[in-house]
Amino acid sequence: MTALRSCTGLLAAACCAAVFLPEFAFSSQTQQKQPAAAPVQYDSATRVFRLDAANVTYALGINEDNQLQSLYWGARLSPRDQFPAAHSDPGLSSFDPSIDTTPLEFVAWGGGLYVEPDLKITFPDGNRDLVLKYLSHRIEGDQLFITMKDISRAVYVELQYKIDPETGILRRAAKIENRTDAPFTIEQSFAATWNLPRGTNYRLRYLTGRWAGEWNVQEQPVNPGETVLQSRRGTTGAQNNPWFAIDHQGASDPDHGSVWFGALGWSGSWEIAIEQDQVQHVRVSGGFNSFDFGYLLKAGQSLQTPYFYAGYTDQGIGEASRLLHRFEIDSILPHAPDPPLRPVLYDSWEATEFNVTEAGQIALAEKAASIGVERFVVDDGWFGERDSDHAGLGDWWVNQKKFPGGLKPLIDKVHSLGMSFGLWVEPEMVNPDSKLYREHPDWVLYFPGRPRTEGRNQLVLNLARPDVRAWVFNTLDQLLSNNRIDFLKWDYNRNWSEPGWPQVPPDEEKNVYVDFIRNYYSILAELRQRHPNIEIESCSGGGSRVDLGVMRYTDEVWPSDNTDAYDRLTIQNGFTYAYTPGVMMAWVTGSPTWVNHRTLSLQYRFLSAMQGALGVGANLNEWSPDDFATARQMIAQYKTIRRTVQRGLLYRLIQPIHGSEQSATEYVARDGHQVVVFAFLHSSSELYPYPRLCLRGLDPDAMYRLKPMDGTLVAGTPTEASGAWWMHHGVDVALSGDFQAAAFILERVSSSPAHEGVSP
Ligand code: DGJ
Repeated sequence: MTALRSCTGLLAAACCAAVFLPEFAFSSQTQQKQPAAAPVQYDSATRVFRLDAANVTYALGINEDNQLQSLYWGARLSPRDQFPAAHSDPGLSSFDPSIDTTPLEFVAWGGGLYVEPDLKITFPDGNRDLVLKYLSHRIEGDQLFITMKDISRAVYVELQYKIDPETGILRRAAKIENRTDAPFTIEQSFAATWNLPRGTNYRLRYLTGRWAGEWNVQEQPVNPGETVLQSRRGTTGAQNNPWFAIDHQGASDPDHGSVWFGALGWSGSWEIAIEQDQVQHVRVSGGFNSFDFGYLLKAGQSLQTPYFYAGYTDQGIGEASRLLHRFEIDSILPHAPDPPLRPVLYDSWEATEFNVTEAGQIALAEKAASIGVERFVVDDGWFGERDSDHAGLGDWWVNQKKFPGGLKPLIDKVHSLGMSFGLWVEPEMVNPDSKLYREHPDWVLYFPGRPRTEGRNQLVLNLARPDVRAWVFNTLDQLLSNNRIDFLKWDYNRNWSEPGWPQVPPDEEKNVYVDFIRNYYSILAELRQRHPNIEIESCSGGGSRVDLGVMRYTDEVWPSDNTDAYDRLTIQNGFTYAYTPGVMMAWVTGSPTWVNHRTLSLQYRFLSAMQGALGVGANLNEWSPDDFATARQMIAQYKTIRRTVQRGLLYRLIQPIHGSEQSATEYVARDGHQVVVFAFLHSSSELYPYPRLCLRGLDPDAMYRLKPMDGTLVAGTPTEASGAWWMHHGVDVALSGDFQAAAFILERVSSSPAHEGVSP
């Protein structure tokens, strides 16, 4: 079975599509020009706040109980539409009081709350009741700040809203302030609750995985009860990723229908709870994971929650992904809104593992440069006594046996070959067999008197400790100051265990869940500030640390250690539900692959990796002259489509899910001038031809010229045709056999007459 939509279906759907305007080509949502109005407005008569941007309207009101009540989250409404004042629900029965049946923006545990609270506090006197009421607000451009306060105690909560003008994606967070005269413990602290229109026919999509098997898209109905997506691992984790999308059950057109979607910006233990409650409200709340949480907030201090981003589209799950991609590039990544394109990278890991030497790396670097690689990265093994994963982490000095003259000769050589130089680090970890651990055994996370569980023979340094934070920063700062390093691959190869912090009083120990991550972010931020040209990759044994939090400080991410080019199709498919291909590193590695011992042609491996940020990780010493020629040609080709792949609009034409033998992706450049299509076949059988590919997102009236890239199209395919032709007639790709791939480019040769200013 394939997940392909028929051309007829597309044709029918295309009738309702918005008119294509090249200058707004990125997102159909942004094609609709909305009347200019302040993005955030407050109606003092009704006490309603309204946020409008792109194709989204979001509204909330202060009800008669001074609670903040959700009123609307959906398609953009007319400025003439007036929201009536918010009125709390009377409650269903003595079992379900008003506070549970009224959809609230942010609710604390108190006053008979049974649904998921956003905030739960234990006060020193044992009191745990907290009831928040509206106090004041202020509007600053596209931002809204609302302050709430407990009915008797000096606990203040500032709710923060920001709406993105281009995508309508909202960023929400809360700041909890202790203005009492004593510390209290925060036991649950979410950024926000998102309320969907009341209903029962919702479907939830989310991402699951594990090492070497990340990014599986799951779908399930939103049933009564609660589904919790989470990480209790101290870090983001691959088991769930902090992303969700909810649409209506049965919706099968990826480009039509309402979708509410969101992602948390937090790289520590996190939680997103999706709840259909007893009155069929669907609410999504999330923030710090409440498992083992207990943040001691002293008098005068405040706790800022992670950001929770969420958006809405009426143009299907495909558009939900495209909006997120655009938002990440334009608003999240370092150097946004114009982050640099990813260079073609070579990484030594799969070629040499720990056996890195100056001569060996120079030999690889020369070969990498000869095929057009732009960045050469020395992976694990260059430091300390690091000959295997049993020793050396923490000892970040250059191994003199492997690099007798330090890193300089290699770095100079790499630069002289015209490439930038990258280096692997794993700064938050230590092997017990290291000088660092022998000197500072108390620097790790541990509970005194208990075993210290190792993962890959390593322990986690407690980055929450100010001295450890300072040591990590100084170590990296010196490394970057003393060497002309352009790029760090920042790895993280295990999750937490025994998360103790015995150096602080017992009631502060659990602050580690927040302070560790804050220090991690602050190190990244400070390094970037001191070394403005550095680029950083977030890697965690594959895709275990990918989220909108770390993406604010890193330029790219490593989605999986699984580099099998066929497995990557599924991995990349799931990844791009939430994250842009523009940060998705994808290497061409050896064949047969270490993962499945599967043999794949070099051309197939390149086309698989060219759907993201291309890299090469194969052992170039084993390549034949033909391999070099193929690689040279593919890399040169990639450079001509790189901007379209990394910045364009992604359409999933056929998904490699539900046992599909085929998969195909299409990338449309932001300005619409170039379209790139990749098609893959697992196995053909019984002479069945490859399904026809009907493209999407083109200008139906513009003409596009076909440029074959790799593989063949069936005879008779026109070399030039209209967008309507490519979208509705479609393209037949000549693929048969096992593990075959093809790719082609369309270049727009003329705009539609209307866009040239000529009457049709
Ligand atoms: C895990 C990473 O994902 C790999 O690419 C490689 O860097 C190894 N760690 C090195 O130990």
